[in-house]
Amino acid sequence: MAFEGRISIDDRVEAVKMPENVRIGLMVDEHRKRCGSDGCQFDYSGFAFGQSPFSVPPTLSNALADSVENGQYSSSTGVYELREAIAKFSKRYFDLHIEPESVVVGHGTKGLFFVIFSMIQGGVVIPSPSWVSYVPQLEILGKDYHILHTDPYNDYKVMPDELESFLAGLERNQHLLILNSPNNPTGAVYSRRELERIAEVCRNHNILVLSDEIYALTTFEEGSFTSMYGIFPEGTFATNGLAKSFSAGGYRIGYSLLPQSFTEEITNNFKKLAATVYTNVSTPTQYAAATAFRPHEEMDSYFRVTREIHRIMGIQLSAMFNRIEGLRATCPKGGFYFFVDFNGVKDKLIANGVATSNDLMQDMIKHPHHIALISGDSCLLRPDDFGARIAYVDYDGDAAMKAYQEERPRTPGEEYDFFLRLAPKMVDGVERVRTYLDGLKGKDGE
Ligand SMILES: Cc1ncc(COP(=O)(O)O)c(C=O)c1O
Repeated sequence: MAFEGRISIDDRVEAVKMPENVRIGLMVDEHRKRCGSDGCQFDYSGFAFGQSPFSVPPTLSNALADSVENGQYSSSTGVYELREAIAKFSKRYFDLHIEPESVVVGHGTKGLFFVIFSMIQGGVVIPSPSWVSYVPQLEILGKDYHILHTDPYNDYKVMPDELESFLAGLERNQHLLILNSPNNPTGAVYSRRELERIAEVCRNHNILVLSDEIYALTTFEEGSFTSMYGIFPEGTFATNGLAKSFSAGGYRIGYSLLPQSFTEEITNNFKKLAATVYTNVSTPTQYAAATAFRPHEEMDSYFRVTREIHRIMGIQLSAMFNRIEGLRATCPKGGFYFFVDFNGVKDKLIANGVATSNDLMQDMIKHPHHIALISGDSCLLRPDDFGARIAYVDYDGDAAMKAYQEERPRTPGEEYDFFLRLAPKMVDGVERVRTYLDGLKGKDGE
């Protein structure tokens, strides 16, 4: 048969939407082109992207330079030195007792989610609002998922009694509950007591947990993070990696601690899948990561300073959003994000033709506002529930780190000044949001 000049794409893949952060990046590029021709000095307010603003710590980047000779293939579950370093790191920072055999390494935690979702039978329960990338993976795999809506008055956390009745309404089966603490998009952190009560429900219903702990070391209050793995080790996959607290998303190193009840069985299946699909994660990067996960004063200080700067930026920016009439922003306890409820201005938005949170996102990116944020809809909110995720990382991280080290802000007033001085784009971004809302016509069109 002759080549027809068209390649047919698999229906399941074609149906999957472009990840929201990439889609917004493309929209920003598009607007930039268009606005340039209008003479607009386009510079968008980057509230959409959740990338660490700091440079990769030299402990890690130097280790990568030193490990370039490790060009050999390696084990599909990760080199032993790295798995051992992660086991000890988990003890040192999170008080977890784990053997290297219960650790697997993947292409970032995103790569691990794909392998875990592929491997585990049963549906996936996703609390909303949620990070944008779990659902597209489940759609590619054709897996069932169930959205558990949470309440802004509970800080959008999963409440054990609500989980209990939600699970009672599902077919009794082995499901996988996704928990994410510190949370993307709300900044919430689950306490030990909250996790214990959720674990109790999971045990009763034979539910596994995928505990996405990628922001663990950014938790603002030192020592206040609790890993679900310490509470429910028999049923939890706990994932973490280099992307956020080590500011090395591009290194693509993530790891998962495996549920202790079936470590060997899972490891063998994991090995099989990983070896079939990609063989191993880049070997030099794994050796570099092993060095960075080992104890270093430089890393301890890096975590402490970056965590403090994230705290100042997150709390100050969320307070500024809360000063805009009609908006309610969560107050983050860790991570890079908070969530803003726009339902207080819903009538006004609808009167202006903005019918969904996706419309809101599209309207805000347009000239002259140029505000990039992630819509509530992409975070699995109901489309007419007006919410948006705000990332608070649009500043020069290295300048902020230098300023912090030269003179640490000590009072709330000094922290406010630090924020105004070192995050001018974010300050300007809040003003743009205020101007956008002020510019909407009233309910009756005045
Ligand atoms: C909640 C959450 N989990 C996982 C990831 C992905 O991390 P990685 O770079 O390790 O794949 C992100 C990245 O934005 C995230 O926000």
